Amino acid sequence: MTASFRITLLPGDGIGPEIMAVAVAVLKQISSQHDLDFHFTEALLGGAAIDATGSPLPNETLAACLARDAVLLASIGGYKWDSLPRSQRPETGLLGLRSGLNLFANLRPATILPQLLGASSLKPEIVEGVDIMVVRELTGGIYFGQPKGIFELENGEKRGVSTMVYSSSEIDRIGRVAFEIAQKRQGRLCSVDKANVLEVSQLWRDRITTLGPEYPDVELSHLYVDNAAMQLVRAPKQFDTIVTGNLFGDILSDAAAMLTGSIGMLPSASLGESGPGVFEPVHGSAPDIAGQDQANPLAQVLSAAMMLRYGLNQPAAADQIEQAVLAVLDQGYRTGDIMSPGMKSVGCREMGQALQKVLEAQF
Ligand code: IPM
Ligand code: MG
Repeated sequence: MTASFRITLLPGDGIGPEIMAVAVAVLKQISSQHDLDFHFTEALLGGAAIDATGSPLPNETLAACLARDAVLLASIGGYKWDSLPRSQRPETGLLGLRSGLNLFANLRPATILPQLLGASSLKPEIVEGVDIMVVRELTGGIYFGQPKGIFELENGEKRGVSTMVYSSSEIDRIGRVAFEIAQKRQGRLCSVDKANVLEVSQLWRDRITTLGPEYPDVELSHLYVDNAAMQLVRAPKQFDTIVTGNLFGDILSDAAAMLTGSIGMLPSASLGESGPGVFEPVHGSAPDIAGQDQANPLAQVLSAAMMLRYGLNQPAAADQIEQAVLAVLDQGYRTGDIMSPGMKSVGCREMGQALQKVLEAQF
C-alpha cells in the first residue's frame, strides 16, 4: 500500500531555495520506487518571512509545520537582516520553530566519507574512519534560560544576562535519547559538560551518571567541554556518541563537522517526543554564493534521507538516497567546497542531475 506523507518545505534564505530544489527532486524521484506519496507545502521562515510578513516565524508557518508529518528546512539568514533587533532576526525564527515544535533532541552526525578523506584539514590517518553522532539538547540551556536580556543598572551601566539552566527532567530526556542512539551504534557515550565550574553542569553530570546503569550495554564517559574540543581535533576516533547541552553542542558540532572536510556535507535531525521533526543541513545560508549555482546540495539531500529514516520510518528509501550520494562522489562529482585535483567540478544543479542519473540507473 502506498504510504502518504505531508511535508512542509522551508527553503529559507541564501542558497536555501537552490539546495531545496535538488532535495525535492530526489524525493519525488524515489517516491514511486518505494511506493511513497509526498505532499509538499512551502512556508516562509527567516529573512524571506521577514520580508513578506515582518516576522521571522509567522503564525501560519508554525501552524503549517505542526499539522504535517515532517519539516524539511534548508537555511536561513543573511547580511540583509543582520542589523535588525533580535526579535526580528532570522535566527529568532529558527529558535521559535525549535521550541514551538518542542524539538529537544538534535542529532548531528559527522562521518568521514572515504571519498572525501583529502578534504579534511586534518591528516588522513587522524580522520580516517571517524563516525561521530553529536546529540545536542536543543530547547533549553543558555539559549532559552531566564532571566535573559540587556538591563540598565542604576549607575547607568548596562548588564547583559543569559542564563544557563537545566532541570533534571530536561537532562533525563535528552540523556535517554543519547543512550538509545549509542546502543544502536558502537555502544560508547561521552557526556560533555563543564562540571568543574558550573552548577548546571554538575546536575547534568549527576543525572547522566544516574541513567547509566539502565543502559548496561553502553560505556559511559564524561569530559569537560574544553578537553572535549581538544580531543575532537587530537584523536577524534575515540568518540562514538556525544551528548551535551545546547551551547556546547552548537560549538562542538561545528568542530566535529569540520573533521569531515566540509560542513556542506552534513545533515541534522531535530526531534521531539512526538509530532513532526525538522530536518536541515548543519551549514548556513552562505549568502556570498547564493543564486550562483555553486552551493553543495548534498547536506540537504542527506537531510531528506534523515527525514525518511528518523521522521517517516522509511529506512529503505533513506538507504537508497545515501547510497546515491556515495555513488556520485565515487563518480568524481565535486562542488567547490569539496573539490580536489582530478575531480569533476560541478555546480548545485549539475550535482542534482548526477544524483538523479544514479537513482534512475538503480531501478
Ligand atoms: C545551528 C546554528 C543556530 C544555533 C543559529 C543559526 C541560531 O548555529 O543550528 O547550529 O545556534 O543553534
Ligand atoms: Mg551552530
